[in-house]
Amino acid sequence: MNKPSGFKIYYFKTLTSTNDEAKRLAKNSIDKIIVIADKQTKGRGRFNREWVSGLGGLYMTIVLKEKNLDDVRYLTLIAAVSVAKTIKKLTKLNVLVKWPNDVLINDKKICGILTETISGKENYALVGIGLNVHQKNFNKNISNKAVSLKIITNKNYNINKIINEITKQFNNLYQYYKNNNYKQIINEWKKYSHTLGKKVKAKTLSGVYTGKAIDIDKDCNLILKLNNGKLKKIVEGDIFVV
Ligand code: BTN
Repeated sequence: MNKPSGFKIYYFKTLTSTNDEAKRLAKNSIDKIIVIADKQTKGRGRFNREWVSGLGGLYMTIVLKEKNLDDVRYLTLIAAVSVAKTIKKLTKLNVLVKWPNDVLINDKKICGILTETISGKENYALVGIGLNVHQKNFNKNISNKAVSLKIITNKNYNINKIINEITKQFNNLYQYYKNNNYKQIINEWKKYSHTLGKKVKAKTLSGVYTGKAIDIDKDCNLILKLNNGKLKKIVEGDIFVV
C-alpha cells in the first residue's frame, strides 16, 4: 500500500484489536504509524463495549508520539471529521459527526473512534477508527442503530483507498493540532455536527441530563442548556436525540 502522508503502515490479517497492537508497537520513539487489520477478535469501543469486527469492516489505529496528552480529545474530533470528509468525497452522502466520537449517516452509526493514551517517558496517542464498510447486517441488538456503506449504497469499496483518504484528511487537520490551532479543529467539527442545536439526553456516569446541545467548549466538552436555563458541561457519556 502507498505510504500516505509520511505514515508507516503495519498491516495484519487478524488482531485482537488494532489499539492493542498499537500499544505493543508504541515505544522506541516510534511516531506516525498506522496499524491496520482485516478483522479483530476483540475489537472494543468506549466504556469497554464490544466492537463487532468481522471481515468487511475497516479497523485502523493511528499512533502519534506527543509531548503531552492534555489535548488528545481533539484527535478524536479530527478523526471523526477525517472520516466524514472521506465518506462525503467517496459517496456524496450526507454524513455527520456526533459528539464525542461517532460518525452517522441517516441517524445511524457508521463509524466509532476510540482514542487511548500511553504515558511515561514517552507519550503516545492511539486513535482507533472502526468504519462499517461491507457489512450486510448487524447483530440484533445494534441493527437499528448501525449501518454500513454497503447497506446504504449497495456498492463495494477498496478499503485501502478509504484508509489512504482518511489518513490524508487526518494529516491535514493534524497540522492544526500541532500548531495548537484548536479553534480551527472545533470549527471544522461544527461544519459536520449532528449534535449541536438538537434537544438531547446525555447519559453520563454522574446522571442523566436533558437539554439543548448549544456548543462544545475549548476542551471539547458538550454544553447543554437545561430546561431550567442553566448550562451543564458534559465531559463524557452517550448522547441521544429526544
Ligand atoms: C466506539 O464507538 O465506542 C468506538 C469504537 C472504536 C472501534 C475501533 S476499530 C479499530 C480500533 N480497535 C479497537 O479495538 N477499537 C477501535
